[in-house]
Amino acid sequence: MMAVMRAAADLRFSERHLLGIETLKPWAIQELLDLADGYVELNRQPEKKRPLLRGLTQINLFFEPSTRTQTSFELAGKRLSADVVNMAVRTSAMQKGETLIDTAVTLNAMHPDVLVVRHEHSGAVALLARHVECAVINAGDGRHEHPTQALVDALTIRRRTGRLEGLVVAICGDVMHSRVARSNILLLAAMGARVRLVAPPTLVPTDVALYGVEVAHDMADGLDGVDIVMVLRLQLERMEGSFLPSVREYFHRYGLTREKLARAKPDALVMHPGPMNRGVEIDGTLADDIERSAILDQVELGVAVRMAVLEALTRELREAA
Ligand code: CP
Repeated sequence: MMAVMRAAADLRFSERHLLGIETLKPWAIQELLDLADGYVELNRQPEKKRPLLRGLTQINLFFEPSTRTQTSFELAGKRLSADVVNMAVRTSAMQKGETLIDTAVTLNAMHPDVLVVRHEHSGAVALLARHVECAVINAGDGRHEHPTQALVDALTIRRRTGRLEGLVVAICGDVMHSRVARSNILLLAAMGARVRLVAPPTLVPTDVALYGVEVAHDMADGLDGVDIVMVLRLQLERMEGSFLPSVREYFHRYGLTREKLARAKPDALVMHPGPMNRGVEIDGTLADDIERSAILDQVELGVAVRMAVLEALTRELREAA
């Protein structure tokens, strides 16, 4: 791809924030993936620390639960020698009525260099970014985007298959409520992969035509010949009303099993961003099969990707110091 090839010449990542994949050019995505690749080996060494962000302050501000994203951002910041603070939202002044904007302005007054924010409302992280002077990273906002997860997934695929361009990727399950799906659709399309959504009609976004993806409502059709099968968590907590007859019926029709996976290419890779519900959207033994499943690779690469994002977003700040 021409746009990607230009990266080697004179372009480099210069975004102020990472709020979504939507605004990233293919060469910028490639630059982040290349940077992250370099951190994978470092993270496997006994000595994992680098002084790159020494003196900088990173605040993690998670308004929704997280295991993978919050922990990997904390590790990423610490491995690059930043001072990392995890703000405890449940015991913060927000419980006394302080607004999101006032919280942002308050934290900004303490001169952080990076804010990593997860929020239950789409657009909340972008809103917060308009009220602070530091870099803001979207760690997942409502149903909108989860850009670092899409970068993690792309790096996982690239390391396993050697490419993104030309692959056929099935994204299966609760696409409607998934910020991971949206960021992955944008990233995979930008990098020349074909995306097929496989979901019941009730769990396909109403604006799906805008994304230029294929849609299948049956796993046999949807998985036919695909290179990658990404399974999404059924987000029961975001569902108002009846989207499914029952969880049992859902697993029967859409849960990924070895039988359903047999429709994909023989070496098709199984992925899940986590947290996963075994026996709901995926069979537990398949998820644990390291020959087919890259789920723990995704977790491992999460730290490297977040180190790369922290490096890229603080580059100008570090160079100006
Ligand atoms: N994939 C993901 O965002 O997981 P967490 O909710 O554990 O961060």
